[in-house]
Amino acid sequence: MKKIIIAIDGFSACGKSTTAKEVAKILGYRYIDSGAMYRAVTLYFLDHHISLTNPKEIQLALDEIKISFKVNAKGKTETFLNNLNVEKEIRDMRVSEFVSQVSTLAVVRHAMVDQQRRMGKERSIVMDGRDIGTVVFPEAELKVFLTADILVRAFRRQKELLDRDEMIDIDTIVGNLLKRDEIDSTRQESPLRKAAGATEIDTTAITIDEEVDEVVRLAVGKMLTKKK
Ligand code: CDP
Repeated sequence: MKKIIIAIDGFSACGKSTTAKEVAKILGYRYIDSGAMYRAVTLYFLDHHISLTNPKEIQLALDEIKISFKVNAKGKTETFLNNLNVEKEIRDMRVSEFVSQVSTLAVVRHAMVDQQRRMGKERSIVMDGRDIGTVVFPEAELKVFLTADILVRAFRRQKELLDRDEMIDIDTIVGNLLKRDEIDSTRQESPLRKAAGATEIDTTAITIDEEVDEVVRLAVGKMLTKKK
């Protein structure tokens, strides 16, 4: 079957990364979590007290940042920042609270998009994020746009945080998701929107397995009909 690029975009906590990971596993594709890259940059900025209003400081910091992914013994992809495993830390609320502001910066986005495009050179990848189908790979053979009801999203995120012993009340989570939706959709540089030709899936009332089955079905269709 022909190799394709699968771009999965959408709002936070719609099941993007769970679906993308599972689809990649089934198809034997590589999974890239673009959000983890923006989270890693944010963690570095927080830890080094980088001011978002100082372009010189930001550029110097970006020059120091090296992000990579490694698959652990359990087959799970983990994010490394300058060779340090930051997979857990980048999911903390302190990073979630700041990541969308960092992600509005054009210079940050350009650095990440360059790296993401290099990772997609070989095709056979599933990448999830906010601008994958619109900016990073507008030529992706399959583009999916996920949505879900805000409360359903918040409960899913709360459960994820609880699974790693972070207890956050539902109102705080709803507040964070809505604030990030707003910043992500209204920013000037590659705002979150459904790409031309993307298939929209509302995940409010479907299970993760149904979500995965649907994306795999769409992907196989694209692989079989791809010309060259
Ligand atoms: O996991 P969750 O859906 O909460 O978010 P994420 O995918 O980890 O992304 C975190 C944040 O990074 C988003 O809210 C966006 O502000 C930003 N992001 C982006 O701007 N572009 C991407 N391709 C991916 C993430």
